Amino acid sequence: MFANTAAVDALLCAADNALRTLSGGAHASRPAPQAPETELDPQARRLAGALMRVNHVGEVCAQALYQAQALTGRSDALRQQMAASAREEMDHLAWTEQRLKELGDRPSLLNPLWYAGAFTIGLVAGRVSDAVSLGFVVETERQVEQHLAGHLDRLPTEDERSRAIVAQMKEDEARHGALAQHAGGIELPAVVRGLMRAAAKVMTTTAHRI
Ligand SMILES: [Fe+2]
Ligand SMILES: [Fe+2]
Repeated sequence: MFANTAAVDALLCAADNALRTLSGGAHASRPAPQAPETELDPQARRLAGALMRVNHVGEVCAQALYQAQALTGRSDALRQQMAASAREEMDHLAWTEQRLKELGDRPSLLNPLWYAGAFTIGLVAGRVSDAVSLGFVVETERQVEQHLAGHLDRLPTEDERSRAIVAQMKEDEARHGALAQHAGGIELPAVVRGLMRAAAKVMTTTAHRI
């Protein structure tokens, strides 16, 4: 009976998170990294908007992934640690959402699809074992960190506000990866890491436009 109640609670919590993530109602617990707003020409603004949309999609997927972890994680310690990282991911979601608005741009129209995909993959990894699930987080955070480093090269130099957000996110993702590794995440096989890279490429290329 109690186990069933806990399962229903967890499912309701996951559904609530999905709705909040997809409806644009994310609340940050930390203020967004600040930098002065600068004048951007239309081309620079469009590029910054496209890159921040891609980053917003990444954070939508992070919500889905960490929710799946919370549902499947076997140990309390693991679930608590993942919840702490998930709170920081919520900050990232809110910051990128806000920055997209400031740039006069919009989130990806395919966000429900990205969320569903990431949630499914997270559930599958979580069903295998905590070590694989954590390994999946380690590799995801590593790839996201590299991706954000690439965006710091591509974002217009004058767009200091977007750059400040991306720089803080990059720092946080590195910490999330280290935490998951410390908690027992194993190195995934090269073929799985390659597939993850390929899937991320499809997502980032599509989200740049749609
Ligand atoms: Fe993030
Ligand atoms: Fe992260």
